[in-house]
Amino acid sequence: MENTNTETRYLTFALAKGRLAYKTIDLLEEIGITCEEIKDKSTRKLIFVNEELKLKFFLAKASDVPTYVEYGAADIGVVGRDTILEESRKIHEVMDLGFGKCRMCVCGPESAAELLKGNDIIRVASKYPHIAKEYFDNVKHQSVEIIKLNGSVELAPIVGLSDVIVDIVETGATLKENGLHVLETVTDLSARVIVNRVSLRIEHERISRILKDLNKVI
Ligand code: PRP
Repeated sequence: MENTNTETRYLTFALAKGRLAYKTIDLLEEIGITCEEIKDKSTRKLIFVNEELKLKFFLAKASDVPTYVEYGAADIGVVGRDTILEESRKIHEVMDLGFGKCRMCVCGPESAAELLKGNDIIRVASKYPHIAKEYFDNVKHQSVEIIKLNGSVELAPIVGLSDVIVDIVETGATLKENGLHVLETVTDLSARVIVNRVSLRIEHERISRILKDLNKVI
């Protein structure tokens, strides 16, 4: 990619910190969008700039990425579909990057399968209370009590906090090692590109060029 217009405004990317960000940086490199500094894991810098292409990048907590994009503080974001669904921000989801594939599932001990068939109010622990509520309200039509947790959700049914959990399953190893099972699949997940609604209009050309280039390498 080459930028010849010196008046061009910066296009800003918000990347969800962690594995997703590094995979995205690799992908962007493949289409000629480079940012050496962001790859330095020891840096405390928050914003990285590619002056030549008039691009800025920042790393943010995954759940904050849709917020930055909704408000236009970032034009483009890369974040998991789990976060997009949970945050339900006003943004455009424009591309599936095809990595970070996993599933959002209802999990628990085998004995909990019966509870999912009945009409009793069950307790559901999750880092994703919104996704869990939507699923039980609109898909299963089952009354539930949602308990919001912030991590190691698999603990909840083991120690008796909840009947089941709604959580991400990637390899299934965490469930297996803790004697839990996938009982139902809520939805498939992967890394997605999201775009600010106004940016999509005013920066249509630059953004669609980037998306087209990404499409060729994914
Ligand atoms: C995620 C998820 C599961 C685990 C699934 O947790 O919440 O616990 O990964 O992966 P697996 O199917 O490959 O075992 P994460 O590592 O993000 O930690 P946390 O639960 O403490 O947030």
